[in-house]
Amino acid sequence: MKIKNIKVCAFDAYGTCFDINSAAQNLAKDIGDDWLEFSTTWRTVQLEYTWLRSLIKKHVDFWKVTEDSLDFAIENHKIDKKFRSKLLELYKKLNPYPELVDCLHKLKEKKIKTCILSNGSPSLLNELTSHAGVKKLFDDLISIEEAGIYKPHPKVYELVTKKYNCKPSEVCFMSSNTWDVVGGGVFGYQSVWVDRFGKTFDKLDYQPDFIIKNLSELAEYL
Ligand code: LAC
Repeated sequence: MKIKNIKVCAFDAYGTCFDINSAAQNLAKDIGDDWLEFSTTWRTVQLEYTWLRSLIKKHVDFWKVTEDSLDFAIENHKIDKKFRSKLLELYKKLNPYPELVDCLHKLKEKKIKTCILSNGSPSLLNELTSHAGVKKLFDDLISIEEAGIYKPHPKVYELVTKKYNCKPSEVCFMSSNTWDVVGGGVFGYQSVWVDRFGKTFDKLDYQPDFIIKNLSELAEYL
């Protein structure tokens, strides 16, 4: 089966294009053996705070959420606070996944528009993609700040259809975050779950249209 009739490929950023664990991994020697558990707490709480803040209608940008969730993880895992600023610096410069550049080049050859659709604030997305050298390969970096609420609110997914003046079904959306795949899919996108780590998909009455292990497999479906 192929992904048909699409005008734009929209990519989630954190976890899909960029390795969210690379910040803590860079400091693994200092953090200790449980650097991955620490990183997982940081990410899990970061996402929980986005959902909670959307529900209680107390929006702050993704950088503040990232700082707050890091403070929680530092306290929870009893990590020395002196690593806080270094971890935050590293979070602005996360490693891109190695196949990202090639995937974006292939989409360009096919004349398909590409964008990021992310919780990240505009300045964060700018820095992240610039540092990785991929900024110019995306037609647009779309931040949820334009909608003023976090994923998976439908207003967020609507930013792409508004930007490209297209139908939801003309958007192919890639995310490694299962709940984000559900959000985009329920909105009407053709959804691709980038299942990098063989995870269990969410039980939210929605199944992804396509499942790939990494972004290099996308080309097979286009
Ligand atoms: C993002 C998070 C959800 O980039 O990964 O929007």
